[in-house]
Amino acid sequence: MAPVNVVIVGASYAGLSIAHSVLELPEVKVVLINPATTFFWNIAAPRIVAKAKAFKPEQYLLSIADAFNKYPAENIEFIPGTATAVDVAAKTISVTPNEGDARSVSYDHLVIASGSTTTSTTGEITGFSIPFKQSNRDDVKQLIEAAQQKIATAKEIVIGGAGPIGVELAGELADVVEQSGSAATITLVSATDRVLPMLKSSGSSAASKMLKQKNVKVVTSTRVTGAEASGDAWTVSLDNGDKLSADLYIPTTGVIPNNSFIPEQFLDKEGWVKVDKEMRVESSKNIYAAGDITNNSMRLSFKAAEQASVAANNLKADILGKGERKNFDQGESIMMVVPIGASGGTGLVFGFTPFSFMVKMIKGKDYFISKAASMVAGKA
Ligand SMILES: Cc1cc2nc3c(=O)[nH]c(=O)nc-3n(C[C@H](O)[C@H](O)[C@H](O)COP(=O)(O)OP(=O)(O)OC[C@H]3O[C@@H](n4cnc5c(N)ncnc54)[C@H](O)[C@@H]3O)c2cc1C
Ligand SMILES: *[C@@H]1O[C@H](CO)[C@@H](O)[C@H](O)[C@H]1NC(C)=O
Ligand SMILES: *[C@@H]1O[C@H](CO)[C@@H](O)[C@H](O)[C@H]1NC(C)=O
Repeated sequence: MAPVNVVIVGASYAGLSIAHSVLELPEVKVVLINPATTFFWNIAAPRIVAKAKAFKPEQYLLSIADAFNKYPAENIEFIPGTATAVDVAAKTISVTPNEGDARSVSYDHLVIASGSTTTSTTGEITGFSIPFKQSNRDDVKQLIEAAQQKIATAKEIVIGGAGPIGVELAGELADVVEQSGSAATITLVSATDRVLPMLKSSGSSAASKMLKQKNVKVVTSTRVTGAEASGDAWTVSLDNGDKLSADLYIPTTGVIPNNSFIPEQFLDKEGWVKVDKEMRVESSKNIYAAGDITNNSMRLSFKAAEQASVAANNLKADILGKGERKNFDQGESIMMVVPIGASGGTGLVFGFTPFSFMVKMIKGKDYFISKAASMVAGKA
């Protein structure tokens, strides 16, 4: 019997987990497509770009191919490359490999796990990438090194957005300034009247107090309206008419769906893939999606993993023609732990604002980086 072909686009928190889960079935061939050959533990990105020596690259960039060595070679094909189009009627996907000619891959079942990116990653505002996510090439290591150098030599850094990424980055940068005794300044511009607006107000005030103690200048209720460069000198314009000078401007707001290859009928108005509770792509029979790319609005890695587990379960039930089906519901409650440098932080855990020392113990010490290896191996 010919094996069942499962094609998975995206090898990150969602796609890797689904690939390992589906490979538990015997008569299945998985084709995994991803431009980078390494999985990136991007959760630690704020510390990685700020503190070049905090971690070793092999802790946050892990080989994807190695993670699938344990399966029979005929059951798994990893294609380093980019999916460019889906032909739903023909059940094929077009792939541009990093090396070699474009090709078409047939699928019986398709999984979309192409995630999201940020404007800082694409560099579309500043012309320079601060890689909080993978790019569309196998170049994350070089992007990280360039970002580390740029940040290390900057004297006036302006961060746009006071969500978790902006606040975490400000905290890490402030640690570096503190420890080096440099005269570099860090300004955090928040459109909302308090930083981390998704937290309770006690969490926001704890964060702004810690940031101020660390000499981060926090500007609230102010929106960045533009950023212009003249050589290496940036002028960041604010909606109150003020202008900030900077030698590095890092925008941290906005998430962009990686949907350029996805048929339009699957997308909602914002470009996310519409899925039902079973993680099946609406109006399809044999296509699932999981993680940031779906229209579930909580775009967090542990939600991606939960969605992946539901999608894999239901996909396997489809393949086997039997088995209990599962549903995903993202729920209402926000869970978030936000380190502010290595010494503390805040967040929202089961409805409570955690003590700063707990944040330091839970996430601040290493941004969960020790979990990266089990994640890529499918044991998370
Ligand atoms: C700086 C930062 C810090 C974060 N910290 C946390 C945190 O502490 N806790 C938390 O829960 N979440 C955190 N998140 C959110 C978390 O990163 C995302 O929820 C998670 O990455 C989603 O995983 P995913 O597998 O759905 O997609 P992604 O991680 O976005 O991966 C998608 C993959 O698909 C690939 N891809 C895209 N398009 C194509 C294509 N056309 N062909 C082939 N491959 C493609 C990409 O290269 C990528 O490898 C953070 C995000 C950022 C930016
Ligand atoms: C994700 O989409 C953005 C915007 O279209 C693009 O710039 C980026 O290269 C894409 N990333 C990947 C991994 O394809
Ligand atoms: C995603 O889109 C589908 C189809 O429109 C809808 O039924 C579902 O409720 C949406 N999910 C969320 C979390 O909004």
